[in-house]
Amino acid sequence: MEKILILDFGGQYNQLIARRVREQNVYCELHPHDMPLEDIRRFDPIGIIFTGGPHSVYLPDSPKPDPGVYSLGVPILGICYGCQLLAYALGGSVTAADDASAREYGKTETVFDPSCALFRGLPAEGVTWMSHGDYMARVPDGFRLAAHSASCPTAAICDEIRKFYGVQFHPEVRHTAYGREMLHNFLYAVCGARGDWTMADFRRRSIEELRSRVGNGRVLLALSGGVDSSVLAALLSEAIGDQLTCVFVDHGLLRKNEADEVEAAFAGRTLDFRRIEAGSRFLERLRGVTEPEEKRHIIGGEFIRVFEEEAAKIGAVDYLAQGTIYPDVIESGLGESAVIKSHHNVGGLPDNMDFKGIIEPLRLLFKDEVRRLGRELGLPKSLVSRQPFPGPGLAIRVIGEVTEEKLSILREADAVFRDEMAKAGLDQSASQYFAVLTNLRSVGVMGDGRSYDYAVALRSVQTSDFMTADFTRLPWELLDRVSVRIVNEVKGVNRVLYDITSKPPATVEYE
Ligand code: XMP
Repeated sequence: MEKILILDFGGQYNQLIARRVREQNVYCELHPHDMPLEDIRRFDPIGIIFTGGPHSVYLPDSPKPDPGVYSLGVPILGICYGCQLLAYALGGSVTAADDASAREYGKTETVFDPSCALFRGLPAEGVTWMSHGDYMARVPDGFRLAAHSASCPTAAICDEIRKFYGVQFHPEVRHTAYGREMLHNFLYAVCGARGDWTMADFRRRSIEELRSRVGNGRVLLALSGGVDSSVLAALLSEAIGDQLTCVFVDHGLLRKNEADEVEAAFAGRTLDFRRIEAGSRFLERLRGVTEPEEKRHIIGGEFIRVFEEEAAKIGAVDYLAQGTIYPDVIESGLGESAVIKSHHNVGGLPDNMDFKGIIEPLRLLFKDEVRRLGRELGLPKSLVSRQPFPGPGLAIRVIGEVTEEKLSILREADAVFRDEMAKAGLDQSASQYFAVLTNLRSVGVMGDGRSYDYAVALRSVQTSDFMTADFTRLPWELLDRVSVRIVNEVKGVNRVLYDITSKPPATVEYE
């Protein structure tokens, strides 16, 4: 398989570069900038990308790759800091832009030289996304200028003999017009990629690897019904069939019909699927509890207990499978602390469970790739494209004490909201949306009588990373329909509110 190596110099868009490369069907991995030359050789990349970063290349302790990287005969694309690094290492000069006009941040009109392989076939002018305080004062021997902007004569450089390219701007960011095409040119025209990274191949390779690793052993998977663990269950099921046991703990805090949907998605497969009905014991433990952190703590602890009980019943399990995905690996230090993080992924399972090993077949995939793999494995769209759902479930969407009655009101209201969002075709464009049962009760008039019922809050947000979020500008007509339906169809609710707070200062969930 052809591979691109991305060396990480600490820039904020590094994950994005990796995703943009994979989107073009070329496999890539992000590695620390000081990856030893021997490891780079073994990785055998068809091309190398240097990312951006917050440093200045001329400072003594700024991050640098092994200088042998320039003699491997492998094409290199340097982005921003990576571009300056390339210039500096090969004999050019880079200095701080004393004159403020030479610093560039944000959208910048840029002129390209279409004879450079990076810009071939593209318009000669376009907007690029710049973010740099240093600039290349002199380009190294063998290089020529390939793009400029009003304030920066060295917006791109290239040495087409050695196949070294540098861009001062960020082609991976959507604000750069034709950034996708520039990366495509680097991958296909410069590095000679054929585009052999497909989910069909990944599926085939993973299944072979899993079979050879697991042999006749038994694998246990804690299945939450979320995208990652569901896709993993389908992959493992195809690889090792009935040597897999999936434990799905229904903690009674799921949305309407959710547990049945998860079960139905796995019913036809030859795997040992165990649905553990644990709703009453979770509710029992939550009785009288109103403090959000205490709720979360109780649910996490109880989940571990139920899972351990089931694992003991199954006995003789060799491997624990976890749905760790690539962002978890990158965020936890490029693999160094992946195991700790992945324990967290399966609801904080204890470290002292006795397994021969941990299996994480999705650890090199991004979320959108996991979804594509899920489709490839024939999982229903409703499961593969589902929005995130928190581990503590509806318990953190019922404000105050959680009771069966309140859960039932919330399930119905949430189902109406989801139904109307789907009918309006907004279910895929909103990042996450749900109903919350507030603990506010207020006076209303229904028929000729007075009511004193709950207020339901609707929440819908737009976000790419869930670290920050903006509320969705939902159409009034839709909100009107949802409100009328909830008040009419759900007993116990007489008021519907729409949450127009962003994160920060609010969070996505209420507790
Ligand atoms: P907040 O409320 O922190 O939520 O803005 C951000 C994203 O994280 C999800 N979330 C959780 N997911 N276990 C999870 O697996 C949790 O305990 C949890 N709490 C929040 C939330 O749904 C949103 O997508």
